[in-house]
Amino acid sequence: MLSLNRVYIYPVKSLRGLRVSHAAAGISGLNFDRHFMLTNTDGTFITARQYPEMVLFTPVMLPDGLCLYAPDGSAASVRFTDFHPQEAPTEVWGNHFTARIAPADINRWLSGFFNHNIELRWIGPQPTRRIKDHQQIPLGFADGFPYLLTSESSLRDLQKRCPAGVQMEQFRPNLVVTGAEAWDEDRWRVVRIGNVIFDVARPCSRCVLTTVNPQRGHKHGAGEPLATLQRFRTGEDGNINFGQNLIARNSGLVREGDRFEVLETGEAPVYGAGIIEDTRKPRAEAVSQFSLQWNDRQWQGNNQQPLLEQLESQGIRVAWSCRAGVCGGCRIRLLEGEVTPLKKSAIAEDGTILCCSCIPAGPLRLSEA
Ligand code: FES
Repeated sequence: MLSLNRVYIYPVKSLRGLRVSHAAAGISGLNFDRHFMLTNTDGTFITARQYPEMVLFTPVMLPDGLCLYAPDGSAASVRFTDFHPQEAPTEVWGNHFTARIAPADINRWLSGFFNHNIELRWIGPQPTRRIKDHQQIPLGFADGFPYLLTSESSLRDLQKRCPAGVQMEQFRPNLVVTGAEAWDEDRWRVVRIGNVIFDVARPCSRCVLTTVNPQRGHKHGAGEPLATLQRFRTGEDGNINFGQNLIARNSGLVREGDRFEVLETGEAPVYGAGIIEDTRKPRAEAVSQFSLQWNDRQWQGNNQQPLLEQLESQGIRVAWSCRAGVCGGCRIRLLEGEVTPLKKSAIAEDGTILCCSCIPAGPLRLSEA
């Protein structure tokens, strides 16, 4: 028999999650799920894709706000009423809406753990964000949908194939089902947990975040388990999928042990192997610094970090998605100089490069693609 095996809530996007025995499920997601997130001062979201150590921060919900515990043992709390009442422009994956900014003291405390100024934001009492193509459904700071469902059997199948250890927590699901055949969820269209009915919106495409170890807060050197998933879970659109995004039709209670029913099924997408390339580790050579130039802007870069991170550290925003050399979203133009590619395909013949997967090998001149 199929049943709900685990329930997780992530009060702050990309910080440590909480496993709970039960939760209130609403149309916007589980109560308290992704009601807070960290952003740049311009309101763009930041996540553990850029800063893997974020998963080591522990959020605790308080009756009147939130307390954050940092990995160094320090802590800071903020009340809902302390957030700036003025709504500020905020962005998640190109989706623009507004949210409330935390007071300066907690932002200063948080910024001390990063290499630039960041802000804590709260969705506020009346969330303004909506699900794309479902304008009637409010959404917190989740990537795009209110719920993520995964299956224990699919995880077990992945664990058998993957040379590295893999934990469910690396996929950051809300709802985990047990008792199904591996990958049966590809065919599910409508499911019920307790008395809550969910539509399966679409599969969840995966990125470098799955390679972050939740206990250590760093990325796997060989890009696992994403590299293994790419070998058999690449869809026709090139996305690497694991888990399903859901939208709830009604509100109710979901509890570990609840019966899980599949009410409607459909065709499973075709999956196969993507273009497989080994991820090379950055060369462990002595640190060198050289001049990097983006359009008219110049600064001292290094031969240790991917270019995307070095551009972002200068406040230069480049579109990205997977940060793993898979999606092609971070392509920029290399006008002059040499880079070390972490994947062969990171350097194209037309003079463009994938900046998430290239490390400077000397002075560079760069621009938009
Ligand atoms: S962000 Fe996907 S290839 Fe760089």
